[in-house]
Amino acid sequence: MALGRSREKSGQSSFRGSRIAAAIVIGVIAGCVFAFLFPHGFFSANPSAQTNSNLEVDPASCESSEKIDRIKSDIMKLSDKNVELKRQVRELNEKLRLAEQVKGHAREQVITLSEPHKAGPFGTVKGLRTNPTVLPDETVNPRLAKILSEVSVRKELIVCIANSNVKSMLEVWFTNIKKVGISNYLVVALDDAIVDFCKSNNVPVYQRDPDEGIDSIGKTGGNHAVSALKFKILREFLQLGYSILLSDVDIVFLQNPFEHLYRDSDVESMSDGHNNMTAYGYNDVFDEPAMGWARYAHTMRIWVYNSGFFYIRPTVPSIELLDRIAYRVGTEANAWDQAVFNEELFFPSHPGYVGLYASKRTMDFYMFMNSKVLFKTVRKDANLRKLKPVIVHVNYHPDKLPRMKAVVEFYVDGKEDALESFPDGSE
Ligand SMILES: *[C@@H]1O[C@H](CO)[C@@H](O)[C@H](O)[C@H]1NC(C)=O
Repeated sequence: MALGRSREKSGQSSFRGSRIAAAIVIGVIAGCVFAFLFPHGFFSANPSAQTNSNLEVDPASCESSEKIDRIKSDIMKLSDKNVELKRQVRELNEKLRLAEQVKGHAREQVITLSEPHKAGPFGTVKGLRTNPTVLPDETVNPRLAKILSEVSVRKELIVCIANSNVKSMLEVWFTNIKKVGISNYLVVALDDAIVDFCKSNNVPVYQRDPDEGIDSIGKTGGNHAVSALKFKILREFLQLGYSILLSDVDIVFLQNPFEHLYRDSDVESMSDGHNNMTAYGYNDVFDEPAMGWARYAHTMRIWVYNSGFFYIRPTVPSIELLDRIAYRVGTEANAWDQAVFNEELFFPSHPGYVGLYASKRTMDFYMFMNSKVLFKTVRKDANLRKLKPVIVHVNYHPDKLPRMKAVVEFYVDGKEDALESFPDGSE
């Protein structure tokens, strides 16, 4: 019995012994794995507590097991993948941040347009003014698309349309653009002489393919015929997904305009106005004494936007604007493109007419200065003389070239009396 028992005992104890051995092996393996997975300890979030960890195991003691090596290398691969994924996520976030900066209010657009919203508390609601940009369509003009991809910066560029009649002003135009350090600009040449002139001066130039007969307008047409062409040409730029800062040739650049844009509206334009009221809008009271008690009729007034210098974003309302102008300037007798530009932007819908629903912004009239502001106000005011505008547009004066040169002398060369010899207006 005793023997039997002892045999029984020894059988039990050897069984127990192998179970203990197995438990130790499992324990050590588990220890290794946990030590690898939780090098800073199981319960402590504090990395400095790792030396107190009960789970610390010398990894060298486990190296013999192939299985552990395999697990280790699997974990290694996983953690490598994790690092790579995290890097990709970081990169995407950075791209997203930049995209949001460039597009300004892109996220607001998505939120506002994607689903219905409650209005929110008093003073917190904002209408959408930054319309979403169109999907670029390169098939419209692959050759232009290639040029724009090379010339533009952040999908923006200055565009000027020129023929040989304005060659000398064009030279002042691009000389000052270069001086300011702007690289994203392009001359749309309407004749071969301008192409050659630009190329010999290292100025980015684009000439349209001769088509549709509209190019003959560019060569021979008067100012207003060229104006209609301008809006058709600009349409392609927008279709390709670029924001354009359209610039007439009678403009002197003194700072980089891209550092002074808001980019929150379809059209951001310089004004023909000369003070806060005329540039930004005011209540103009019309007096009709015969009406007695109701003799005062209130009207809204604003000096027109200048269609020779505006920033236009590639949105549906922007393209609709260009189409409306091109159509009217091309079909109506005596349509002046600047008048049409403003009528389309500002006249509301009414019976028989659907107005354009574009958002608009008036540029600071001291920073984007017309020549009336310069010659009537600024040059006579000691404080305003110290201010350096972004551009000066010699739009109010027919003697454009000498005034452009005087603007350069005054603002760039520091010649204090450069503007003095000119009268306020034309004589
Ligand atoms: C014109 O408006 C600006 C802000 O738009 C303001 O700072 C300035 O004081 C105003 N000037 C006058 C004369 O009202």
